[in-house]
Amino acid sequence: MDDLNRKLEQLVIDAGDAFAAVEDEDTLNQVKARFVGKSGGLTALMKHMRDLDPADRPEFGRHVNEAKSRVGDLLEARRVELRDARRRADLARGYVDVTLPGRRPPRGAVHPLRRVEREIVGVFRAMGYAVATGPEVEHDFHNFEALNFPPDHPSRDMQDTFTVEDGRILRTHTSPVQIRTMLANEPPIRICAPGAVYRCDTLDMTHSPNFHQVEGLVVDEGVTMAHLKGNLQEFASRLFGKRLEIRLRPSFFPFTEPSVEVDVECPFCESGCRICGATGWIEILGAGMVDPNVFAAVGIDSDRYTGFAFGIGIERVAMLKYGIDDIRLFYENDLRFLAQFS
Ligand code: FA5
Repeated sequence: MDDLNRKLEQLVIDAGDAFAAVEDEDTLNQVKARFVGKSGGLTALMKHMRDLDPADRPEFGRHVNEAKSRVGDLLEARRVELRDARRRADLARGYVDVTLPGRRPPRGAVHPLRRVEREIVGVFRAMGYAVATGPEVEHDFHNFEALNFPPDHPSRDMQDTFTVEDGRILRTHTSPVQIRTMLANEPPIRICAPGAVYRCDTLDMTHSPNFHQVEGLVVDEGVTMAHLKGNLQEFASRLFGKRLEIRLRPSFFPFTEPSVEVDVECPFCESGCRICGATGWIEILGAGMVDPNVFAAVGIDSDRYTGFAFGIGIERVAMLKYGIDDIRLFYENDLRFLAQFS
């Protein structure tokens, strides 16, 4: 037993010496096999186990394991030394090829909705509109009451509303920014207001419970429907990059009188296509002349001032611009879809 233990001790010393003498990692692996491999010295010593008194075997087994772990430690320490030495030598030789192209992280892209929002806002800014914002959690006053939606009036059903616990609501359109702007500023006013809005609509190909609008509001002396039409025509032409006609169809909103739906000449076809439903026209927004009741609610003199307002659905414009037929694609975060806009 003592003799075997001495041999074990010697094997650890020999392994340490042999590892120290090795100068590269490949050779180190070969040398390792001499000590701890299948036909290495340690395995050979293990075979003497059967010659021992059975009472001594557990202790000898422990010694063998200890020796094995010490050889393992010596091996690892030498491996680290050799690796570091190799790296130092590589660096000293100028081995790092700095001319190799770097690995580029994949490029992100602006979300198509944000992109279209920026384009729309960019067009209005170029036309002299300032940008306004408002909160997404709103008071009934700004979202409905001051916009001439009478309490309990069926016109409120046009926009199914999410209510927050404290009685406030998620704004159903960007029109409350009109109210906030007129409460805080004297005319002349010329703003556009992009943002998220919420309605209890079921998600389908063309509707989402959370979508985006850009509001517009112009208030001054002598503002007429002709200004509304001219501004929107200019906007549509700049947005789609070519001269496009628009047409106004009578509609109803509580906060505008008269109210209109605005169609733009289909930018994609001459004589009718799938996108315009073969009509040659596409509806892009609601608009109208600011109702005198709205001016009264915010303390603007409607004998002196008139104004127009409009609200554009950003998803609708983005679907048109990019020929997308399902609104849900905007919200699914599928990189195969989003990467097309990079
Ligand atoms: C309004 O929200 C009015 N505030 C617009 C307005 C502003 C009129 C100022 C007059 C003056 P409407 O509910 O029609 O109107 O919505 C406007 C646009 O939002 C629609 O044309 C449509 O493009 C978009 N929209 C409405 N509901 C959804 C929905 N669930 N998902 C996606 N887009 C929607």
